Amino acid sequence: MVVGVSGGVAAYKSVHLVRLLVLAGHEVHVVPTEDSLRFVGTSTWESISRNSVTTSVHDDVAQVRHVALGQAADLIIVAPATANTLARMAAGFADNLLGTTLLASTAPVVVAPAMHTEMWSHPATRHNVDTLRARGVHVVGPADGPLTGGDSGPGRMSEPEEILQAALAAVPGDADLAGLQVAVSTGGTREPIDPVRFLGNRSSGRQGADVALAAARRGADVRLLAAHVGDGVLAEAARHPRITIEHAGTAVELRDAALSAAVETDVVVMVAAVADYRVAEMSDRKLSKQGDEGLSLDLVQNPDILATLARDRREGQTIVGFAAETAQTDDELIAKGRAKRRRKGVDLLAVNAVGWTKGFESVDNAALVLDAQDNVLTRVQGSKRDVANALWDAVLTVRQRTRTESTLGEPSLPET
Ligand code: CTP
Repeated sequence: MVVGVSGGVAAYKSVHLVRLLVLAGHEVHVVPTEDSLRFVGTSTWESISRNSVTTSVHDDVAQVRHVALGQAADLIIVAPATANTLARMAAGFADNLLGTTLLASTAPVVVAPAMHTEMWSHPATRHNVDTLRARGVHVVGPADGPLTGGDSGPGRMSEPEEILQAALAAVPGDADLAGLQVAVSTGGTREPIDPVRFLGNRSSGRQGADVALAAARRGADVRLLAAHVGDGVLAEAARHPRITIEHAGTAVELRDAALSAAVETDVVVMVAAVADYRVAEMSDRKLSKQGDEGLSLDLVQNPDILATLARDRREGQTIVGFAAETAQTDDELIAKGRAKRRRKGVDLLAVNAVGWTKGFESVDNAALVLDAQDNVLTRVQGSKRDVANALWDAVLTVRQRTRTESTLGEPSLPET
């Protein structure tokens, strides 16, 4: 991996980033710009990366260092990426080692911008960032927070751990889902009560976004059916060329979107938290308080989208559900999961324990995946991205199993 460092005070944070990469077992070559050495010097980079460091295209000429580094890199991270370096990258400048390395490489590039808010918001920088994004460069941050001048706002370089995660995600993995058409629902539905109020839930949509991203990264074409999600949750998915996002706010809208997507998809994963009930009659006018009395709302059941998809599934189609359950023990979690899997009739059900502090809005998650024989096919604990990847592994396993069974003349979807 190549870590390019440009001249900003945030360079000190990249020392930790390089250390994290080295500790994770990566071979790291640091390419600082001349200016950046005012903030962190060559000897720090050499001792942390355990490789020699130069800023010049004229060193190591015999090995054509600028070409060799770029060609050999699996990934290039530029952190911090100053406004100047972003501009040079957008224009394709090659007058320093970082510029030539970038031009000589076809590896994924991740940049972590760091600059003052005004520079980040300037139309020139916006344009450069858009140009880089359009070329497939991954942009991490910048975060909103205190800046060096004592001011505060967007422009602070993201933390090394976040850059590391984005960087590792940018390295292409196996394209084992290539050719697969999938639909993933995410977020929480909102059922209107009147023009300003609704019944909703705490789902942030992060897990569904990660399921969609994991599929797209592994080569699938993804329709992401998004109910209501947290701020920024869909940002990365929106930039992925193999993901199209469709919005569906209520359970009924989501059902329509899911049934229409199911017609042409091989796999449907319902991650969305769908409201079980909606108000029987939505008021056209804002309800006002009625004296000191309480208020009763008449609720009617929403359609069970997942059960409908499972009931009407085409041959060879895989239907996957997600169940968030409250359970005291693992056995209770599995028992609840099995009952729900049977009730819904799905091929796979991912089950995770939730409570007031677990599951929602957090980055980390733990889940187990039940198959159509009620076996615990897999268990996973880690980030929502890890859960997403484990789920796709499970999908591949059951699809392979189904293919083998149908070749052998067995029923394609075994009953329990
Ligand atoms: N689901 C659905 N349509 C509904 C409710 C849920 O498609 N009306 C899907 C969810 O997207 C999820 C799975 O069913 O994949 C399990 O959701 P959950 O809320 O746990 O299921 P419920 O049927 O609502 O069960 P419970 O009685 O526990 O509320």
